[in-house]
Amino acid sequence: MPRAAVLSGLGAWVPPGTLTNEKLAAELDTSDEWIRTRTGIGRRHIISAGMCTSDLAVEAGRRALESAGAATVDYLLLATTTPDRLCPATGPEVATRLGLGTIPAFDLSAVCSGFLYGLQTGRALVLAGLAESVLVVGAESFSTLVDPEDRNTRPIFGDGAGAVVLRAGHSDEPGALRAVNVHSDGSLAELITVAGGGARARAAGDDRPAHIRMRGRSTFMAAVSHMEAVTRQTVDEVGWQLADVDRVVGHQANVRILHSLVKHLGLPESAAIVHLHAVGNTAAASIPLALHHGVTTGRLGVGHRVVTPAFGAGATWGAAALVWPDVKVLPG
Ligand code: UT7
Repeated sequence: MPRAAVLSGLGAWVPPGTLTNEKLAAELDTSDEWIRTRTGIGRRHIISAGMCTSDLAVEAGRRALESAGAATVDYLLLATTTPDRLCPATGPEVATRLGLGTIPAFDLSAVCSGFLYGLQTGRALVLAGLAESVLVVGAESFSTLVDPEDRNTRPIFGDGAGAVVLRAGHSDEPGALRAVNVHSDGSLAELITVAGGGARARAAGDDRPAHIRMRGRSTFMAAVSHMEAVTRQTVDEVGWQLADVDRVVGHQANVRILHSLVKHLGLPESAAIVHLHAVGNTAAASIPLALHHGVTTGRLGVGHRVVTPAFGAGATWGAAALVWPDVKVLPG
């Protein structure tokens, strides 16, 4: 049986602080009703002073290792757009704090598709025989990137982390990543940007703050069409029919995107796992947090055929397909 990267552990963690729609409505020209009906979001978790992305990543990573029953791994990949610092990468600190010794650890930046880029990279290391196990973490503190006065972005984003352990196994096992596809198109870069804070801004003497800006409507349309296409590609590659898919655990940006996606795929609304009401859009953490939510609520069960499409800034997009394995998870 061919070698495969097999999902063998899952962990999630969100910081305790919450920001409700009501609180946002007291500070911005918005309302609970607008946010709920246009996005599906009810609240988001926000880091407290002194906390950062590494803290979230360590908590989720520890839970994933425990879930897998693994004391160590060969690599740690941290998907994040909100590293603790521009330099050095946050991955090595996370690995050290998890007691993983001097294993290779690095950051990966693909924004809302970051977790899928992490899965693909971890899978490639396993398939190449360079690793027997990999910890893939998606962790974000997007609350540090939003302009507190921007009603277009502040209600959308939240903080959190999710992680999985991949181990070497066989392609017919539950949990085997049966297919992973990732894509990018830099011509769509202007859809979602953080103009301030990068080398381009520094070189130009531009000292604007590092705030995220999003062309919401165009991003919405691109998200639905690219997530649909990559889901079809991934399901085809595995040899499934769309009707075989039990759960779509998609990037949690907007409930209308998730419902539109499953409708385009000809699947019932109930196939979509929806978690954004409680956490908002957590970028690279979004899919592992939604997987964790699915398992802990019983909506995602052993044997389910799962596809995980995402779309985000870059533009980047992708999807993975697997049969859900019997993984024990701790509360997030
Ligand atoms: O994570 C990466 C991928 N990201 C996404 O996939 C996000 C995709 N986009 C979206 O989810 C949606 O486009 C948003 C939630 C960001 C916006 O929803 P929309 O239905 O596309 O709204 P819109 O931007 O077209 O704005 C509609 C109206 C506008 O007013 P007018 O021009 O019609 O008078 C906005 O000014 O809603 C207004 N508006 C708001 N009103 C109250 C925009 N934001 C708000 C707000 N509260 N927070």
